[in-house]
Amino acid sequence: MRNAQQMLINYEKLRAVGQLAAGIAHEIRNPFTSVMGFLQLMENTVHDSQQKYFSVMQSELARIESITNEMLALAKPQAMQYRPINLPDVLMDTVNLLSAQAHMNNVEIETQLDSNEAPVIAEFNRLKQVFVNVIKNRMESMSGGGVLQIRMHQTGELVIVSFSDHGTGIPDEIMNKIGDPFFTTKEDGTGLGLVVSQNIIRDHSGTMDITSEYGKGTTVTISFPLYQHTFKDAAASMENNLSKK
Ligand SMILES: Nc1ncnc2c1ncn2[C@@H]1O[C@H](COP(=O)(O)OP(=O)(O)OP(=O)(O)O)[C@@H](O)[C@H]1O
Ligand SMILES: [Mg+2]
Repeated sequence: MRNAQQMLINYEKLRAVGQLAAGIAHEIRNPFTSVMGFLQLMENTVHDSQQKYFSVMQSELARIESITNEMLALAKPQAMQYRPINLPDVLMDTVNLLSAQAHMNNVEIETQLDSNEAPVIAEFNRLKQVFVNVIKNRMESMSGGGVLQIRMHQTGELVIVSFSDHGTGIPDEIMNKIGDPFFTTKEDGTGLGLVVSQNIIRDHSGTMDITSEYGKGTTVTISFPLYQHTFKDAAASMENNLSKK
């Protein structure tokens, strides 16, 4: 099981990486702007035979510009819109999104929800990103196909979603590296899926736990605080307040 302190350290590490990237991108921009400016000045004096080198330089510089802009945008915090949303809607949306891929991988997604209503205060697309990351990990760990179980149940204050697979499982010796930024066992993995997911869950005051048995499978459990009122209650109390005025 991952401990919260470790996840916090990872979050700080990722933030430091983002800030470093933004810092470098920012520093590159000044010399870059002057090179770009001088190049433009020279444009009319370039000999015909060298014109093709000149255009290569221009397009390569444009590439540097777009990379630095992307790095800067990555580190910039984005404005979030938190609102009451229905968690089962996010889950079903994600399952639909990934159903074609699951089918291709011979994976059957089985969902068991205790209710079709579980309101949480959240950003729909970011929660979806978490579920996509977790479900994709599960599909990638079940090479021969199989069943993915998604269960959702509510306690008084929490909604708990668990994802269990009978995939490869995670060996004990790498369990404590899972969730470290850039730690991956996959050839084309970035090792950021779980780090990003953990950060999003944290922003929603939720928790994530991973338990795994090598050779047997993995269970990822995610919980969020429930929005105290159901939509109906909230609407009723709003109407009530209005009629009092
Ligand atoms: N359900 C799972 N079963 C087995 N191993 C898993 C599971 N989920 C995660 N892992 C292990 O945790 C590692 C990190 O996962 P994470 O999602 O952060 O990155 P990734 O999947 O390797 O790369 P990316 O998400 O960028 O494609 C994986 O490489 C894999 O070894
Ligand atoms: Mg992943």
